[in-house]
Amino acid sequence: MRWYKIPEIQNFDKPFIKRIKAGNKTICLVNYEGELFAVSARCPHAGGDLSIGWCNNAKLICPFHRYSYDLRTGKGSEGQNDYINTYPVEIRDNTVYIGIQSFWEKIKEAFK
Ligand code: FES
Repeated sequence: MRWYKIPEIQNFDKPFIKRIKAGNKTICLVNYEGELFAVSARCPHAGGDLSIGWCNNAKLICPFHRYSYDLRTGKGSEGQNDYINTYPVEIRDNTVYIGIQSFWEKIKEAFK
């Protein structure tokens, strides 16, 4: 897994939802109730930008048709039958890092 430094995020005191780049991924970084979550920024329903959505009950809600996704697992709410990718987040020396697996790492893990 490769870790990407996200230097533009300096303040974790207030809740936020931000669209950021990590490697070749566009990610939605969410500070929800004091915890950071990194998820895919693209809504699988019709491609909406999840970074302009909002959170409720640890779910990220897409502003376009209000599909919602669990921030921890990425799983879509009942009846949606979809999901968004989630990425590990670490804070080192007050800087955010997001971990992204390569395609081959994902394949290897799937066959463990
Ligand atoms: S584009 Fe996100 S719910 Fe439709």
